[in-house]
Order: sequence, then structure tokens, then C-alpha cells
Amino acid sequence: MRPIQIAKNIYDVGVNDWNVRDFHGYSTPTGSTYNAFLIIDDKIALIDTVKKEFANQLINNISEIVPLEKIDYVISNHTEMDHSGGLPAIMHRVGIEKPLYCSKMGHKNLAMHYRNNWNYHAVENGEELNLGERQLTFLEARMLHWPDSMLTYEKKGKILFSSDAFGQHYAGYEKFDDQIDTDALLHYSKKYFANIILLYAGQVQKLLKTVNDMGLTFNMICPDHGIIWRKRPDVILDAYEKWSSPICLKKAVVVYDTMWQSTSTMAEKICEGIVSEGVNARPMNLRTNHRSDIMTEVLDASALVIGSPTLNNNVYPTVSDFLTYMKGLRPQNKIAASFGSYGWNGASIKILNSELASMKFNMIDETGLKIQYVPDDKGLNSCFEYGQTIAKAICQSLQ
Ligand code: FEO
Repeated sequence: MRPIQIAKNIYDVGVNDWNVRDFHGYSTPTGSTYNAFLIIDDKIALIDTVKKEFANQLINNISEIVPLEKIDYVISNHTEMDHSGGLPAIMHRVGIEKPLYCSKMGHKNLAMHYRNNWNYHAVENGEELNLGERQLTFLEARMLHWPDSMLTYEKKGKILFSSDAFGQHYAGYEKFDDQIDTDALLHYSKKYFANIILLYAGQVQKLLKTVNDMGLTFNMICPDHGIIWRKRPDVILDAYEKWSSPICLKKAVVVYDTMWQSTSTMAEKICEGIVSEGVNARPMNLRTNHRSDIMTEVLDASALVIGSPTLNNNVYPTVSDFLTYMKGLRPQNKIAASFGSYGWNGASIKILNSELASMKFNMIDETGLKIQYVPDDKGLNSCFEYGQTIAKAICQSLQ
């Protein structure tokens, strides 16, 4: 299905990875793509490559348009190996004497990955490269999401080659935003933001400000994963503005695991209490919801309510896994509460509270809600009321 002409003399020569299902702990049920872009002008430039195992497909795609040795410049926007794994094969075919454009950190990081003495050209922020009719500007995007990250802007067509930013893990025969349902596309984008970009929300704000200050406008945003934004690039720019703010809707996510269904009963009753106050809530069992889907819901929630039974003086392994994953992504500005059933030692609540407080959640209380063994009517009522308390705190936080 590649190469695909995305603009006059610009091609997506990347590949679809239909089968990838796990990306650093993030579930990718619809696979992903590694987009790479070939610009044909007086000079020919290739922007980014693909995972190593797809290098031959990339070479075949490029060869359909131009012999590889005709490429004048190779540009690496990002060192991570889903975009640079194909570089050794590409540089071998293009010629190792050809300039390899990257950021200064890209130079350092590529050298540590590939140990090759390529002809690096480490660019200054804002440096330009003239291809003929088209002119490229390199924009440093440090920590969005690696120290080496940069974006490449093509002035004539107002096309942003945005590396990982604005992408989605989605493989399909569609290539553009006008070929796919917008809600579905935004869902893929939101999951991607929640699980890859969230930690770097501050850098997103900085990038959006830079774009605004420079007066840049985009006819097309071409990420290295998934669908290209050509009809409504403003949709994803607005979404990134919102998601990086951070956004807090009138919504709680109730995450839990359960041993003998007492904690799941508590979760559902707490949700009922939350909903009774007009706040959206959803119980999400960690056995049936992937951690990355839960993070997608946490992204725009006002509160995270997390429950675990006590198991061997600790929390459940799935709960621990989720806490570790979420800690790395650092959601901001959210309320949290904890709950769980226990037998003879209610240690799980104390651990949950301590973990959540260390992540700077605003705790509803220091005690959480714990119930010994199986909740009776009184216990169920406490859960419902606890949900109401959480809902009221959410409403107050949004005033
Ligand atoms: Fe798609 Fe940071 O690599």
C-alpha cells in the first residue's frame, strides 16, 4: 500500500506494522505504522526510517520512486528505534558520506545506538535546508518525548513532519484524517497522548507556544505513527492544547482488582454514589481493562478512585503494576481516594494512600474506605456515601 503520495512530490514511504500489540506496556490492538517521508525536489530528502525488521520494505517503497543513491539528505527527527532502526540499511544504500541531519542530542544518541561514523550534521534550532522549491526548517522539540526529538517543517506546503507528536498507534488502509471517523481517530490519538505524551505535557505547551509565536500554520501534520492530518490539522492541535492543560472533566475513574468480589462490589457501589451526584463514573477492573486503556480514561478525569484487597500485607499485583505505570506518566491536578476489603490486615489502603500522595494526587482523606471480609448493608451504604463524598469534591474542584 506504500508509497503514498501525500502532496506534490512528497511520499509516505513508511510501513504498516499490523501485528504489534504491545508498545512499551501500551496495548496496540490496531497495530501501528512507522511513517517515513520522501521529498523529491532539486535535492532529495528522506525524513525518518522504520523499525529495523521493516527496513527492506522501506527500501522497496523508496525504490519505487527513486534509486536510493539519489537521496541527498537523510533526516532523523528522533532516535528511538521504531524510527531509526532502518538507518544502517538506509545509510548503506544511500551512501555513508551523505549528510545525516539530526538535532545535537540526536547526534549523540544516534552515535550511541549505531556506533557508526556517519556524516552527522547536527542542526541549530530553526536552521533551514533548501531543497529547491521546498525549504525545510528544523525545530527542536527536546523531551517531546526524547532529548533528541525535533520536528521538520516544510514551508511551501506548510507541512509539519512531527515525529511522535500528534500520532496514533493505528494501522489501516486509510492514510488521512478525512478517510476515517473523527471520533475513532481522536480516541486513538487520546490513548497515544495519555500513554506516551502525558509526562511531557509541559513540552507540548511549549511547542504550541513556539508555533504560535512563530506564526506557523499547517496545511498538513504528518506524524511518524498512524494517520496524517490534512483536512483538519486544527482538530489535533486543539486536542493537544486541551490534553496538556491538564483537562479535568466531571468524571471519576474507579480502578480496582478483587479477590473474592468484595472489592468489586465496593467499586460498583462507590460508582453508584458518584453517579447519584451527577458525576460520570465507571468501574474498571484491572483484569479486564488494559492499563493503557485505563490511563486513557484517567487523562481527562477529575478523580481516580483505586481499590485493592489486601494480599499478603500488600496490594494486589495488578494494582501495583498499574500504580507503577501511572507513576511514570504523572497525571496532574487530580483528586484521589482509595478503598478495599481485607481479612485481618488492611495494609492495602495505607499503601495505596501513600503511593497516591507521593504522586501528588489531592487525597479525599487519609483513611480511605476499608471493609472487613464481605460488605453488609451498612458497608454498602458507606460505599455509596463515599462515592457521594468523592463526587462532591469533584464538583467543588471544578467551580
Ligand atoms: Fe515512535 Fe519515540 O518513537
